Amino acid sequence: MTQATLILIKPDGLKKSLTGNILTRLSETKLEIVAAKIVRVSRQLAEEHYCHLKEKPFFPELIRYLQGELHDRRKVMALIYWGEDAISKCRELAGATNPEKAESTSIRGSYGRITTAGIYENVIHVSSNDSEAEREIKLWFSPEEIIVNLYPTKEVARKEKKVKAWA
Ligand code: PPS
Repeated sequence: MTQATLILIKPDGLKKSLTGNILTRLSETKLEIVAAKIVRVSRQLAEEHYCHLKEKPFFPELIRYLQGELHDRRKVMALIYWGEDAISKCRELAGATNPEKAESTSIRGSYGRITTAGIYENVIHVSSNDSEAEREIKLWFSPEEIIVNLYPTKEVARKEKKVKAWA
């Protein structure tokens, strides 16, 4: 089944200069990258991304982590991988969510850790299933930022608004 998945290289991955290693590992999947960007993560975006974890005791620290406050790197790299069984292929390479339980050769097993506060610094996020992938992709990307048509779109008229242009 052709699928799409959101991939986030989290602030610890960027701080540790792991972007190249992670992308090389993910290229083993032979999936196609159909969108990519660097994002400065607002509190609202982080909270919406992890909205299903609001009641967890680690939620506030998790938000600070995704925003880069724990690593002095206020950015993440967001990508969409697309192709046959994209979610299971990327999740297999990523390894288990808990980096201490992840296969030692997986991305999280190789580079992740658990902080003394109990937060998983697991370097990478991969969508957990099709419906989460759709929710997350729509949260992180607009249709124009994706080079294939993943989900139905509609035309909307936007009120004239000021945007930055090259001077
Ligand atoms: S659930 O409900 O626990 O199964 O949630 P899940 O969808 O697996 O996502 C959990 C995300 O929270 C991050 N995180 C932790 N989870 C559990 N325990 C601790 N201590 C913890 N710290 C952080 C975990 O990495 C998951 O985020 P992603 O981005 O998917 O790795």
